[in-house]
Amino acid sequence: MPDTATSSRTSGCPVAHGPLSSERTPTGCPVSQRAAGFDPFEDGYQQDPPEYVRWAREQEPIFYSPKLGYWVLTRYEDIKAVFRDNITFSPSIALEKITPTGEEANAVLASYGFALNRTLVNEDEPAHMPRRRALMDPFTPEALKHHEPMVRELAREYVDRFIDDGRADLVDQMLWEIPLTVALHFLGVPEEDMDTLRKYSIAHTVNTWGRPKPEEQVAVAHAVGNFWQYAGKVLAKMRQDPDAPGWMQYGIRKQMQHPDVVTDSYLHSMMMAGIVAAHETTANATANAVKLLLQHPQVWRELCEDPGLIPNAVEECLRHNGSVAAWRRMVTKDTQVGGVDLPAGSRLLIVTSSANHDEGHFSDADLFDIRRDNASDHLTFGYGSHQCMGKNLARMEMQIFLEEFTRRLPHMRLSEQRFTYVPNTSFRGPEHLWVEWDPAANPERRNPGLRDVRVPVRIGEPSVHSIARPVVVQAVTPVAEGVVRLRLVSPDGKPLPRWTAGSHIDVECGTPELSRQYSLCGDPDDAGAFEIAVLHEPEGRGGSAWVHANVKPGDRLRIRGPRNHFRLDESLEKAIFIAGGIGITPVSAMARRAKALGMDYELHYSGRSRRSMAFVDELAALHGERLHLHVADEGRRNDLQALLTQPVPGAQVYACGPLRMLQALEACCAAWPEGALRVEHFESTLATLDPSKEQAFEVELKDSGLVLTVPPDQTLLTALRAANVDVQSDCEEGLCGSCEVRVLSGKVDHRDVVLTRVERDANTKMMACCSRACEGRLVLEL
Ligand code: HEM
Ligand code: FES
Repeated sequence: MPDTATSSRTSGCPVAHGPLSSERTPTGCPVSQRAAGFDPFEDGYQQDPPEYVRWAREQEPIFYSPKLGYWVLTRYEDIKAVFRDNITFSPSIALEKITPTGEEANAVLASYGFALNRTLVNEDEPAHMPRRRALMDPFTPEALKHHEPMVRELAREYVDRFIDDGRADLVDQMLWEIPLTVALHFLGVPEEDMDTLRKYSIAHTVNTWGRPKPEEQVAVAHAVGNFWQYAGKVLAKMRQDPDAPGWMQYGIRKQMQHPDVVTDSYLHSMMMAGIVAAHETTANATANAVKLLLQHPQVWRELCEDPGLIPNAVEECLRHNGSVAAWRRMVTKDTQVGGVDLPAGSRLLIVTSSANHDEGHFSDADLFDIRRDNASDHLTFGYGSHQCMGKNLARMEMQIFLEEFTRRLPHMRLSEQRFTYVPNTSFRGPEHLWVEWDPAANPERRNPGLRDVRVPVRIGEPSVHSIARPVVVQAVTPVAEGVVRLRLVSPDGKPLPRWTAGSHIDVECGTPELSRQYSLCGDPDDAGAFEIAVLHEPEGRGGSAWVHANVKPGDRLRIRGPRNHFRLDESLEKAIFIAGGIGITPVSAMARRAKALGMDYELHYSGRSRRSMAFVDELAALHGERLHLHVADEGRRNDLQALLTQPVPGAQVYACGPLRMLQALEACCAAWPEGALRVEHFESTLATLDPSKEQAFEVELKDSGLVLTVPPDQTLLTALRAANVDVQSDCEEGLCGSCEVRVLSGKVDHRDVVLTRVERDANTKMMACCSRACEGRLVLEL
């Protein structure tokens, strides 16, 4: 790479800045040339934001942009850390104008009485969370179901209008107007003035997130002022009929009960911001999705053949090419993110579209893979306490549009065109999307019934069943006593997604309910196949027994992944790898990678007997003296104590094996720095809850008449889902309030940051994703 680290060591800053410009950040750190050149209003950013900041993601993940006056964040973990803490990182600037306007434009706005203020997305605590919770009910899956027939009907009618033309601009002829109509219905706005609104909402985007030229600013200000006044008038009309359906009317009714929570200023501001939040985001997201899918004809064909893939394809489109490219936060107290000092008052541009392409979180991140099993980890909807409330409405619309196109226009392709975008930091979608097809080949000319086929949509995140990836077993090879290696290839012979050492896949063992995780143990550079090794465990839960009894070459299996929770830090000076028994699988891939990188490493592998240990010869050939075998029946046990007494500076220990071995390791590494020991448990849930510290508890579900036991290694949410009780969730770590359940009796051990002290003491609700019972049984209204 041409830009290599030059400044970090000289400035004392932990970040590698690349060649330097003469400018400095507010902390005095020198600004690299690329950071100085960063301009999100340039075409490069508009065309492909994650590509535009690739250099930063890879070399200078947090940098100061003098042109924007913002710190720019590009990596997944840093951005998620910012979203997680909405006190240190206030959302108050989310709707602030990114380019301050001149006096003339400000005067125009003032002449309309423009006073857009806090809604939800830019509201601080403690005001935000009570308001969010008060307004949440219209977003439950039950409530959203009522909108489905309307979206479907609209999609059908709009396609009818152009299906015989052979050519359409999907943005102008469909994708702009339907989400607008749906947004207006959802909010409860009478369906009028659509064209005017369309103009207004673009002006609002440019006013907030764009850089209008001085001569444009006044026209934009007039449109925004008109939009503001229009919103006020509509709200006044709604107040006369507060029982009408609509989220705004719901807010008006809530205001009667809680005037301090749902304020007048909120309602007027949301009337305007809500249209944009619900409309442009979804219109752009669908246009981006269709464009991306048609740019990958093979994927498009698969989707046309199997519409069951649509829910996860929607998530992957939102990840790969979402409609919100970046979001904003303001630092409220001096802090650090990713080792970089951020002083109080710093403004942050968090480039979520870049986080969505971070190899540290998404393996083979640039690959467009509609079977990616963690696609819905994308940050396009934000994350945590402000995560998009309308995401399931947006998902529903996108699914219906894709279902309509794949069924009625499977032969559609992109026309030759250059895509243009409204220059701004955040809202992103092509202004036009020309597609073409041969109308004579329209499937419904042969089969008119096709027009009215109805595939049920899935409200919420995709089910795991839609994510499964088919593979074919190419070989089954015994590699040790009770251990077979499976070599899995893609059914069409195409390469499989790239993976990194430490990754695992989930294999469905006969039924989707019996799914087991196996680490990949082959060569990460071999894109032709995934290899796993499965130990027959007669006392296990049946997965390995099924593999050993049933799997043979030529069989088709369904898998999910790969994903990696056990990553090798490739910048290490030294790695010590420790494997016990079948724990060799991820460790062997890591050791292979360490060798390829030229890293200093040693590999310790222990087992009962040589016969029971997989890959011994291969490992010996590859690693020579770096391999240390500890074979119990040869009298050579692994003396972890002796191996690890002294911390080795700059080294990390990576271990996988039986629980007893991992516990012993933790004790041996007590003197090592925090984080130096990385372990992979065979069961991933153990990593989040420490079962040695948790207690099982019982929950009685009053409405469903069920009594469940929540074991120490499971959350209440997981136990409820396992019992087929649907509870919404977003963050699954106590931040967002989505998984609230009502408590009728029993004492709750609250572990969230959503409930106030008073609410905790009242003991009438809890967050199912993290909170537990103090003792005994909880009775829940479920
Ligand atoms: C918040 C994106 C559709 C309503 C947000 C945020 C983002 C976002 C990035 C800020 C999250 C944060 O700060 O953590 C999107 C995208 C959409 C979409 C990409 C479509 C693909 C919708 C729809 C609605 C909606 C259809 C309403 C019907 C909201 C609301 C919030 C929000 C009310 C504020 C939540 C809070 O601050 O508590 N959205 N949105 N959005 N969105 Fe969406
Ligand atoms: Fe977010 Fe539980 S608080 S899912």
